[in-house]
Amino acid sequence: MRILFIGDIIGRPGREVVSAELPALRRDLKLDFVIANGENAAGGFGITRTIANDFFSLGIDVITTGNHWADQKEILSFIKDEDRILRPRNYPHGTPGKGAGLFESREGLRVLVVNVMGRTFMDPLDDPFAAVEAELIACPLGEAADAVVIDMHAEATSEKMAMGHFCDGRASLVVGTHSHVPTADAQIFPGGTAYQTDAGGCCDYDSVIGMEKFEPVQRFTKKISSSRFSPANGPATLCGVFVETNAKGFASRIEPVRIGGRLKQSVPES
Ligand SMILES: [Fe+2]
Ligand SMILES: [Fe+2]
Repeated sequence: MRILFIGDIIGRPGREVVSAELPALRRDLKLDFVIANGENAAGGFGITRTIANDFFSLGIDVITTGNHWADQKEILSFIKDEDRILRPRNYPHGTPGKGAGLFESREGLRVLVVNVMGRTFMDPLDDPFAAVEAELIACPLGEAADAVVIDMHAEATSEKMAMGHFCDGRASLVVGTHSHVPTADAQIFPGGTAYQTDAGGCCDYDSVIGMEKFEPVQRFTKKISSSRFSPANGPATLCGVFVETNAKGFASRIEPVRIGGRLKQSVPES
């Protein structure tokens, strides 16, 4: 299978680069399945029904999220009936929505997608490792799923990397989100699981992690907050990872994707 995972889409610049570039990527890379993290899609905070529908019509099959999943309160009215949007699996019991789902690709292949959140320098949620373990046992790669993708939404590199190794040999791809900057460690672990610590954000990189830079710099230097954070408005870079899997569901190839905007470009060959 050919899978594209797109990192946190941040505000209008992020949405625009995804809608401009995804159709050609789908065609050129012959993508079977597309997952995108949408937690910052609406003005940097959360996601709306309209934006989610736009993503689905672009060919995004599943939307993952993270700590900002419920920043737009309207999501509480539709996440229960929308299996294609995931929120972190390790939120308290009873939280609306789901943290994992088994989806079908256009070719009829089964893709398990799990979204969890780290606990280091973040809210103290349930154990993300136990949450992933439960999903991997319930839906094993090569048996109940043809591909398994884990979005580990976390602050700490160490926690994301530990999750990658924890899943090695049991997932097709473990990819980090939340830090909004792509890391240069795309690799396939010894057991066959593709890994990258952070997919990177889809945002204008003349910014502080996608946000207009004046306010964050002011808060760091003067400890005064004078306005809300808002997404930086220059041309954005689409950031993600492209993975090809073999018949057993293990990764045979991983390539970082960076298209548009200021970052050094990285476009996988088809
Ligand atoms: Fe984010
Ligand atoms: Fe986040």
